Amino acid sequence: MHGLGLHTNKIKVKNIPLLVWLTLIYVHFVAPGILNNKNFAPLPTSFWALHPYEDAFWNRVQLAHDRYFNPILHPKYTKRAMNNSTLYESLLKQNFSDVTNLTSIRRNFDKLPQQMQDFVRHMQRRDYPTLLRPDGVCGAGAKDEKEPTLLLLAIKTTELNFKNRQAIRRTWGQVGWVAGYVRRVFLLGKESHEEPSVDSSKLLQLENDHYGDILQWNFTDTFFNLTLKDVLFWSWFSDFCGQTRFIFKGDDDIFVNTPNMVTYLQHQLMKPRAHKTMKDFMVGDVIREAMPNRVSDSKYFIPDAFYRGLYPAYAGGGGVVYSGLLAKRLHSVSKGVHLFPIDDVYVGMCMMRLKITPVHHPGFFTFDLPQKDAEQLCSYHNILLVHRRSPDQLVKLWAGTLSTQSPLIYSGKMSLQSL
Ligand SMILES: *[C@@H]1O[C@H](CO)[C@@H](O)[C@H](O)[C@H]1NC(C)=O
Ligand SMILES: *[C@@H]1O[C@H](CO)[C@@H](O)[C@H](O)[C@H]1NC(C)=O
Ligand SMILES: *[C@@H]1O[C@H](CO)[C@@H](O)[C@H](O)[C@H]1NC(C)=O
Ligand SMILES: *[C@@H]1O[C@H](CO)[C@@H](O)[C@H](O)[C@H]1NC(C)=O
Ligand SMILES: *[C@@H]1O[C@H](CO)[C@@H](O)[C@H](O)[C@H]1NC(C)=O
Ligand SMILES: *[C@@H]1O[C@H](CO)[C@@H](O)[C@H](O)[C@H]1NC(C)=O
Repeated sequence: MHGLGLHTNKIKVKNIPLLVWLTLIYVHFVAPGILNNKNFAPLPTSFWALHPYEDAFWNRVQLAHDRYFNPILHPKYTKRAMNNSTLYESLLKQNFSDVTNLTSIRRNFDKLPQQMQDFVRHMQRRDYPTLLRPDGVCGAGAKDEKEPTLLLLAIKTTELNFKNRQAIRRTWGQVGWVAGYVRRVFLLGKESHEEPSVDSSKLLQLENDHYGDILQWNFTDTFFNLTLKDVLFWSWFSDFCGQTRFIFKGDDDIFVNTPNMVTYLQHQLMKPRAHKTMKDFMVGDVIREAMPNRVSDSKYFIPDAFYRGLYPAYAGGGGVVYSGLLAKRLHSVSKGVHLFPIDDVYVGMCMMRLKITPVHHPGFFTFDLPQKDAEQLCSYHNILLVHRRSPDQLVKLWAGTLSTQSPLIYSGKMSLQSL
């Protein structure tokens, strides 16, 4: 950056310090996680070095995209963009198909499993229309727009999982019980095989009329399409949720100890320098240096014809918390990262581009508690969340939580507003 001779701390583009723009432009993506592992080829140190994983489909399309936006290969282009936020925004928005010629990369396509071929056919598209939304506001519970929201619960669910949603609404996902500072939204796609006897879209619409907490887009709700829920949620969030401090994003079959979570988050805001650290804040069950799953009948199967390299550090998608500030940065950076069929890994890839590592918290049990602890109600006092609980179990656990925990007094107001 020295070569540019810019006083980076002084120049601002549209109120965004130039340094931030530079970081946005100068992050190059390489297949993540392979830095210090001797089982893998070292990262190429310069942009012209041959990429070790060029034969894997995803690595290849991402590389094509990164070359296109490489400021060393296209210095005039990127320099102009740095000086012109309109141009820069339009670059970010650029449709991947303008940049990546899939036809020329299709060598490996036929080797991919059927489901992955389907993913690849649609992986350039992310502008699915919204079918239902919580009435223009940031989730159910957003009655008083003047007060900043502490926590927005964003829960991945599917049309037919009405029972799970109801249980969440009645238990840990209740809004308004801490002075209106908790809001809720469910994230859905479309059911792929609707039963002809049930018009689930009609029911869902009624549900949204009643609860106002449904955000649904017109894409097929499959496992490989879950990543769309992240990118589309970030986009919606950036438009409607300016004041929200934290997002909890998770599955509809988990139990969250919301009182503990709220207390924990309030403490984060009261820490010194919170206004600085919040832009990088993500906490969860962090998985490091994971190998892609190569077992062909697994739901998580990623063949090496599709992706090579380790995964970046990522927080398990069962439940993760991050700041609203970070959500907006993820929204921006994700425009330059090709969709990946596993949602939490994709978020990890975007985090890596922002040069942020998610922080591990031992209270996130995305793989459940040890058997004997799972049976003891008191085991749930200190946790933040635990994975896989049925709707009936949620009701029981919540009753236990309420009876053993002192009522929560919301005390974070001052620190919220001082941010
Ligand atoms: C940015 O634009 C201004 C005028 O609009 C010009 O003076 C300046 O040299 C440009 N900077 C770069 C890095 O192109
Ligand atoms: C910035 O880029 C946009 C889009 O390319 C262009 O229309 C506009 O004239 C540029 N503005 C400046 C000051 O160069
Ligand atoms: C993409 O690549 C194929 C094969 O190299 C070529 O025939 C086609 O014209 C290219 N398409 C575009 C839009 O560049
Ligand atoms: C991307 O661009 C191509 C060609 O310009 C167009 O056919 C396609 O509809 C665009 N897709 C999106 C999602 O904008
Ligand atoms: C949703 O997508 C389907 C095709 O997948 C299309 O037939 C339908 O018209 C779309 N509905 C809306 C409301 O956009
Ligand atoms: C994702 O959704 C789109 C739009 O409905 C669909 O065409 C595609 O098959 C889905 N992809 C996967 C991998 O299920």
